[in-house]
Amino acid sequence: MLFEPIKLGNIEIPNRFVRSATNEWLANDDGIPTSAIGDIYEQLARNDVGLIITGYSYVNPQGKSNEKQQGIYDDRFIAPYSEITSRVHKYNSKIVAQIVHGGRQSIVRESSVLLAPSAVRDESSGKMPVEMTEEEILQTIGDFVEAARRTKEAGFDGVQLHCAHGFLLSSFISPYTNRRIDEWGGSVENRTRIIVEIIKGIQKHVGSDYPIMVKLNATDGFDIYSGKIGLDAPECVEIAAILEKAGVCAIEVSGGIFEAGDVMSRPDIDSEDKEAYFRRYAKMIKDTVNIPVILVGGIRSRNVMDLVLKAYADMVSMSRPFICEPDLVPKIRDGVTAAKCVSCNLCFDPDGIKCHYFASEK
Ligand SMILES: Cc1cc2nc3c(=O)[nH]c(=O)nc-3n(C[C@H](O)[C@H](O)[C@H](O)COP(=O)(O)O)c2cc1C
Repeated sequence: MLFEPIKLGNIEIPNRFVRSATNEWLANDDGIPTSAIGDIYEQLARNDVGLIITGYSYVNPQGKSNEKQQGIYDDRFIAPYSEITSRVHKYNSKIVAQIVHGGRQSIVRESSVLLAPSAVRDESSGKMPVEMTEEEILQTIGDFVEAARRTKEAGFDGVQLHCAHGFLLSSFISPYTNRRIDEWGGSVENRTRIIVEIIKGIQKHVGSDYPIMVKLNATDGFDIYSGKIGLDAPECVEIAAILEKAGVCAIEVSGGIFEAGDVMSRPDIDSEDKEAYFRRYAKMIKDTVNIPVILVGGIRSRNVMDLVLKAYADMVSMSRPFICEPDLVPKIRDGVTAAKCVSCNLCFDPDGIKCHYFASEK
């Protein structure tokens, strides 16, 4: 199954491998993607990664979360991204842009404030966001729609809305970070409204057939000792169903917010039973929706990849293994049984992603 094609909306992906969105820390100070980012994506395409998802690109400067993160908040981004998509399209791979607003996990600069659905302090950073006004919510929806338009004009095969990991859209769907009592908070439907409005806007202004995908937090990831009740099942399944109805063509299942610790990129995945750590959520979502489900999080071995496709999801998505081995797909095809990645997390490098663990071998 791993090497069988699959359709996501109107695009065909040549196999079931996805490079999950991975911030490269290689953009210019104003977010313009450099050719070094293009080098990484072209290398992945040359090595048969079916679907490449870009690092998260901020839809407006207030929603920037990292230095050297790529942006997409102005039309001057279209040309550099066009160069990148045409480099990837020399091969069979498809490329989708992930777009984001950092929300309460953005960088605070002088005179800037952190926007969030509610004023809930981030206990990991100590930062206190402000509750967004209705006007700010509508403005942000517009920023996402404009960003999606730019992705299409730059030749991307689709767009992925980043609704995971505690960034703005993820903080709206979470009952922990969204305490609003207006139409943007409360019920699951209200908490998902901002995403649905973005989808409607993209369908109206960018095109009803432009593929829209979502990376969805299935769980905020708080442990029992935290005493915090975040997003989890069954609400994430209800949200997935709402997003399918709104017209999303694929859902990538992930989890974790900064405040909950090492949930998103779990360290030390050293046995098959630790792999695919969000699989039970993917299964619940797959049993409910009729669009392809993509699973990310600790997938390392051929055995588990096969198992995921058999029982939990339609595609396997990886981030850290492709930093370590951009040629992982042909290796698996040739019989290698597992990725080398040891999940040490040294690849989170603000000087530009790289695998430090195996650096001496390269
Ligand atoms: C260096 C690095 C940067 C990341 N940047 C993003 C990002 O921009 N957007 C996103 O949705 N996830 C991001 N992630 C999370 C991964 O996409 C993925 O969900 C997570 O690492 C678990 O998958 P893995 O075990 O295959 O690494 C990043 C992970 C790493 C290691």
